Amino acid sequence: MRGIAVLGSTGSIGRSTLDVLRRQRDHFRLVALAAGQNEAMLAEQIAEWRPAYAGLAGGNGSATVPTGAQVLIDAATHPDVDIVVNAVVGAAGLDATLAALRAGKRVALANKESLVMAGDLVARAAREGGGEVVPVDSEHSAVLQCIAGQQESLCRLVLTASGGPFREWAGERVRNATVEEALAHPTWQMGRKVTVDSATLANKALEIIEAHHLFGLSYDALDAVVHPQSIVHAFVEFCDGSIIAQLGFPSMELPILYALTYPARLPDSGVRRFDPVAASPLTFEPVRRDVFRAFHAGVEAGRAGGTAPAAFNAANEEAVAAFLDGRIPFGRITDIIESVLSSHVGTDPVDTDSVRDADRRAREHARRLVSTS
Ligand SMILES: NC(=O)c1ccc[n+]([C@@H]2O[C@H](COP(=O)([O-])OP(=O)(O)OC[C@H]3O[C@@H](n4cnc5c(N)ncnc54)[C@H](OP(=O)(O)O)[C@@H]3O)[C@@H](O)[C@H]2O)c1
Repeated sequence: MRGIAVLGSTGSIGRSTLDVLRRQRDHFRLVALAAGQNEAMLAEQIAEWRPAYAGLAGGNGSATVPTGAQVLIDAATHPDVDIVVNAVVGAAGLDATLAALRAGKRVALANKESLVMAGDLVARAAREGGGEVVPVDSEHSAVLQCIAGQQESLCRLVLTASGGPFREWAGERVRNATVEEALAHPTWQMGRKVTVDSATLANKALEIIEAHHLFGLSYDALDAVVHPQSIVHAFVEFCDGSIIAQLGFPSMELPILYALTYPARLPDSGVRRFDPVAASPLTFEPVRRDVFRAFHAGVEAGRAGGTAPAAFNAANEEAVAAFLDGRIPFGRITDIIESVLSSHVGTDPVDTDSVRDADRRAREHARRLVSTS
């Protein structure tokens, strides 16, 4: 019985994780739950699971559970926890990732922002504390499953992208897309922020940076291709030119379960059985880099290294929040990311203070741009 903490338990990945755990009660014990502000849903989860620890990181002092940012750290480092599922959205997830790794835990990482902001610090925390990161993102889970012990022969990765709801739209129409249109993702049901990231393709840049840190490949060996059906999750190319891909109908439950059991597998993952005929046809297209410029901006921030990816992440988070609040049009998200990155003065090597400083400066800059939009 391995002890599990779920951070972000009230979100899309958090709730899918609880669905997975409900089917695997013989293998895992839920020890800790942490959410942001959704006190009512957390109360339901506490009633069902009776965890040893639960709290609201974003709650106010009137809640009946512990509140404040320390909640994520306390849940992540609880002594009975072996695996921390970090399903918090955004930069708020970073400290818990670092704390869990320093405490020697496995982190089943959905919070890709942790690796994007501070990939080197995450690796150092794992080295020093004896923890490990296992990705939950379906593309990176696919890569992990394809590599299967042959990391030294790995040559190139191609991550797939659904292309989002605006895959075929003309550029000008995309710039003026509404919130409702941006949230209408064709293949995945996800939280609001990552759904907008998928519509701008900033999400695929975040994932390329994540892959760079997870699999140790240079940016020249990392690419993305649009695959509207979201059946093939990634292609892995080995040094002899052989390609292995991982396929399945879109569902986060398998990558979540695999991150808990890796490198073993358990039966009854709950996923729909694969049917090649029902899945066909499978098509692939290039990323339209002229329309989805956030993809290029993010990958270039990854290439620049240092604190540039943290600035990219922060600018994106602020711009997406402003778009979702109706304060800027869809097209401004990418403009803001580009403006913030073009004036970002980076530092290298990176430590926690420089990451926080880059995050703060990028957010301030992005907010100024939002207010003058
Ligand atoms: N959804 C997917 O299919 C999917 C796939 C791959 C990767 N991911 C990644 O997984 C992460 C979570 O995505 P999601 O779609 O599950 O997001 P979501 O549905 O928006 O859920 C986010 C979770 O984070 C919590 N939260 C928000 N702000 C917080 C804060 N300041 N402190 C602590 N907790 C906070 C929320 O709590 P409250 O709701 O209680 O406020 C909620 O539990 C993201 O990094 C995303 O990119 C998601």
